[in-house]
Amino acid sequence: MKSDQSKAQQPSRRSFIRTGGVASAAVAAAMSTKGVVRGDEPASESKSDVINIGIVGAGGRGGGALNDSLSINENIKLIAVADLHRESGERVRKIMTDRHGESKVAIDDSKIYEGLDAYQKVLNDPAVDVVLLTTSPGFRPYHIAEAVKAGKHVFAEKPTCVDPAGYRVCLAAHEEAEKNGTAIVTGTQYRRQTNYMGVVQQIRDGAIGDIVSATTRYCSSGIWYKNRKEGVSDAEYQLNNWMHFIWLSGDQITEQAVHNIDTLNWVMDSAPESAYGSGGRFTRPDDSQMWDSMSIDYVYPGNRVLSFMCRQIPGAKGDNGSVIYGTKGTAYIGAMSSGSRIVDRSGNEVWSMKGSIADAYKQEHKDLIDSIRAGKPIVELKQTADSSLTAVMGRMAAYTGQEVTWDFVTKESTLDLFPKGLTWESSLPASPFAVPGSTKLV
Ligand SMILES: NC(=O)c1ccc[n+]([C@@H]2O[C@H](COP(=O)([O-])OP(=O)(O)OC[C@H]3O[C@@H](n4cnc5c(N)ncnc54)[C@H](O)[C@@H]3O)[C@@H](O)[C@H]2O)c1
Repeated sequence: MKSDQSKAQQPSRRSFIRTGGVASAAVAAAMSTKGVVRGDEPASESKSDVINIGIVGAGGRGGGALNDSLSINENIKLIAVADLHRESGERVRKIMTDRHGESKVAIDDSKIYEGLDAYQKVLNDPAVDVVLLTTSPGFRPYHIAEAVKAGKHVFAEKPTCVDPAGYRVCLAAHEEAEKNGTAIVTGTQYRRQTNYMGVVQQIRDGAIGDIVSATTRYCSSGIWYKNRKEGVSDAEYQLNNWMHFIWLSGDQITEQAVHNIDTLNWVMDSAPESAYGSGGRFTRPDDSQMWDSMSIDYVYPGNRVLSFMCRQIPGAKGDNGSVIYGTKGTAYIGAMSSGSRIVDRSGNEVWSMKGSIADAYKQEHKDLIDSIRAGKPIVELKQTADSSLTAVMGRMAAYTGQEVTWDFVTKESTLDLFPKGLTWESSLPASPFAVPGSTKLV
């Protein structure tokens, strides 16, 4: 049994959940060194305490992530929301209250924040323990870094960066989170989907022999586009039509197909060494910077070429999944909930597994909250930042028409797309879409 003296030295339950957010950096560091933050606290004590959630980015996925977290976890409460637009915050509050009731959703009017600095108000709120970061991707590295500094545990949607500058911010935030005991779980849900975990284990166990090559595709129909309203600034237009501006979305390869690229990096247990590729645009609106098709050859260690393709052209055939070729067989990994299977060299199925993406979306939020309660916060940002940068590397190769190496993007590239001094009134003349041979590799 512990003495009163040793009890007095224990951090309070709230400081345990919040780590550095309430405790000073020094206290957090001391807690961390003693192993209190990182794992020696009995999980049973913590189960009874409510964990308070705030969200930054109350759009489609933000609502989905909130619903997943509130559905799968007990003793959690949504207490604050930040978005560029107050209506989005109010909408999410209503939907979540209707679905989950006031025991899980208690957002005072004063805790619905709007604007570009709204995220800071959620991060400065000492009652918030966990923050869900679900804005357009361009903001992600900077929001993650500030959340970790504020001592908040983080759920960060993918992609976590859209350029090498953002990647470096992610690496620093990962390191800081490991030091101060804040969790960072990312929205690469396939890493928690049974058929994906199953097939990767099969591959690791030798079911297809040595991996020779692979191909992955994210080909779908078009994507939404918002017409510019009269009188709005460049910044307002781009923020609301974010998919079409590379500083905000990273283009399709980063914004959506990062899932497929993450699968390749996971299977290969490595980022690629280089990328070479091509692509173009046939159907995008005139002022969109996005391409609508891209094919990249990634060279992984062992001189193995894994090919990637993405396309968003209405009417063209869709395909979303990965095929991994080995010396003994082939693994097919279907996206969404379409399952995985392995065939031998004669085409006979030797293994298969189903999986539910809906379950995987929930599992990431269960893992996050469980890890906080257990005092063993998961920090998985680097893995997802690596995959996001792999996508960026492919985009840079296609846009410039050059071969781009992992060494270059991690160590030398100065590409930093985020506008300096961004305000609602910023003039941001959009640069034209990339043209290989003219667009410079920086
Ligand atoms: N894991 C998945 O399968 C999956 C699925 C869909 C979307 N996503 C990711 O989720 C993110 C959001 O996508 P979405 O479809 O929800 O977009 P969305 O446009 O529906 O929502 C984004 C919201 O963020 C708000 N926002 C933008 N910048 C902000 C800022 N600086 N501060 C506060 N709020 C801000 C917008 O006003 C909007 O309400 C993207 O990164 C996307 O790739 C992941």
